[in-house]
Amino acid sequence: MPTQEEPTPTPASSPWRLSVAPMLDWTDRHCRRFHRLLTRQTLLYTEMVTTGALLHGDQPRHLDFNEEEHPVALQLGGSEPADLAACAKLAERWGYDEVNLNCGCPSERVQRGAFGACLMAEPDLVADGVKAMRDAVGIPVTVKHRIGIDKIESYDFVRDFVGRIADAGCEVFIVHARNAWLKGLSPKENREVPPLRYALVHQLKREFPHLTIVINGGLKTDDEIAEQLQHVDGVMVGRQAYHEPWQMAGWDERFFGTPGPAQSREQVEQAWVQYLERVVESGRPWPQAMRHALGLYNGLGGARRWRQIWSDHKLKALRPGEVALQAAQARAQQAGMRSATGVGPLADAA
Ligand SMILES: Cc1cc2nc3c(=O)[nH]c(=O)nc-3n(C[C@H](O)[C@H](O)[C@H](O)COP(=O)(O)O)c2cc1C
Repeated sequence: MPTQEEPTPTPASSPWRLSVAPMLDWTDRHCRRFHRLLTRQTLLYTEMVTTGALLHGDQPRHLDFNEEEHPVALQLGGSEPADLAACAKLAERWGYDEVNLNCGCPSERVQRGAFGACLMAEPDLVADGVKAMRDAVGIPVTVKHRIGIDKIESYDFVRDFVGRIADAGCEVFIVHARNAWLKGLSPKENREVPPLRYALVHQLKREFPHLTIVINGGLKTDDEIAEQLQHVDGVMVGRQAYHEPWQMAGWDERFFGTPGPAQSREQVEQAWVQYLERVVESGRPWPQAMRHALGLYNGLGGARRWRQIWSDHKLKALRPGEVALQAAQARAQQAGMRSATGVGPLADAA
């Protein structure tokens, strides 16, 4: 049994041990498909989809995903319990492994809809929503939230929030370890300016040892992830995973004890280009998908030229396989030139 002082780290089999964060406009189905070429085990989250968009909009567009994306969680934005329950049912019917409620987004648009981070001020409403979702589905219902809103800095606020939602049946909490300032900061600033306070999240785990507590915010290196896993059950990584995707190639082995799917970046690129070809065959433009993979060679010589070729507007009418050839040549050329002139291969790695 975990004690107050020493929570037991979650076994490697926990679905929440490591995840890639929901990121609007970034973690779409193409992005998640790409991430699956790098890690099989890491849990992937969709972008936030509002209950309104799901109930009144184009459901296949919002819900369709590739089978390879499992395990995959749908994140909902909304606050009306009946709507949340209806959307949770949709999530389950479409085959998602989890449904997650966003209580952390600070954008003004979201505040006008009275959901996202401002829901932290309404724990009873969140509890009703969570209960309605749990009554409607068998898949796990989880909540992603902040440690506070505006200038509320006390631990008690987040503890009471978690306690209230846990009473409604939620067992998994993903905690972005900074406040959301609902006025005066853009969403981007709200991911950078309010200070990170990991200790509060660790304290949550100590106080609620039976709950699954996942920490999020500002975590970059594998060592930082491993360190956090000494205190909490799971780590969610957002921007670092997106910008430096190759890092994920080591995650299955290090954090789950199973071999990962990727032997080399070239092998990942090859599989990815095959996927892009299928995107084209289904009548969609490949650059929409490719934008998520532009960081693949980051840290290696030639990365910048490779990225430039793949983002060159003039090449967008070509087949992905043709662009791949040009990109590989440009990368080799630039990497070769660098070593021939004695400039280190990392010089152009930005
Ligand atoms: C472009 C972008 C879009 C985001 N969209 C969402 C979202 O839809 N839902 C959500 O809960 N968080 C969203 N976030 C916040 C992330 O999930 C995460 O909490 C935040 O980036 C902190 O983690 P990190 O420092 O590892 O990136 C977004 C972040 C970024 C960078």
